[in-house]
Amino acid sequence: MQAKSDCPIIQMSGRIQLPDHKAIPKRVELRQFEHMNMPLDQIVDLSTYPISEPSFGADCRSTLDSEGVLVLPSFIRTEALAEMQSEARKGHGKAYFCAQSHSVYLTPPDPNQSDDHPVNRQVISSKGCICDDDVSAASPLRTLYDAEAFRTFVKTATGERALYPYADPLSSINIHYAERGQELGWHFDNSSFAITLLIQKPEAGSRFEYVKDLRETDRGETNFAGVGALLDGETQPQVLSMDPGTLVLFRGRDSIHRVSPNESDTTRMLAVLAYNSEPGISLSESARMTFYGRLS
Ligand SMILES: [Fe+2]
Repeated sequence: MQAKSDCPIIQMSGRIQLPDHKAIPKRVELRQFEHMNMPLDQIVDLSTYPISEPSFGADCRSTLDSEGVLVLPSFIRTEALAEMQSEARKGHGKAYFCAQSHSVYLTPPDPNQSDDHPVNRQVISSKGCICDDDVSAASPLRTLYDAEAFRTFVKTATGERALYPYADPLSSINIHYAERGQELGWHFDNSSFAITLLIQKPEAGSRFEYVKDLRETDRGETNFAGVGALLDGETQPQVLSMDPGTLVLFRGRDSIHRVSPNESDTTRMLAVLAYNSEPGISLSESARMTFYGRLS
């Protein structure tokens, strides 16, 4: 009797004909192959995106500086993307779902202002998340995150001097899930940049919308009037369209952004690759409890 497995490859017996007509022996080898890490050049399209070339990194930096966003479509190769999709789908059942009401400034309510003042107006963010410790050691996401060439590229593109993983076991690589109706409300980021990789796109909704440089943190400019106009629907945001496999670097500290509600029954799945500029930094315990529902 044949053992049951979710994996159709493992259920096969005999020898398998590969496209180059080299047969490989059955189960044991397939299992080993399955757990091997993909090399970086099988994950990233390095011919289109030569991330190790300083001139490419410099071009990306100039785009990120001028546009506030860098979009690299089809950054991830088809097979690696399929693996990421498979891993994300398997992890879906473990995801911690939560919803928060927050201001666009992500600050506590200001008792000196009315509830309808832009500093106090509330928006909703709702999503699911799996954490770094749920991402496999053999995942192409982890290979990409750990790759020195990728980290050097991100440093060049963002102008950061150094990049380190989070010290806690949860926060470095996350996969986010948004079901029908779930959204990320308008907000400004606390971090200077974010790296995301779209894994699965819904048929409708989940649009990434933003208004570039709506405030100017360095000058203490909060632009309440501009934020109020956006929340009242008087400002038309830009929409960033992207397909699965697209890498996005986004500067969200001064550019307000949101992800509109998912309007389909296909889950939006997005990987977030997070680094710190200093070693030994953990995400705060309150943030971990809020977004992950656990500390470790
Ligand atoms: Fe954000």
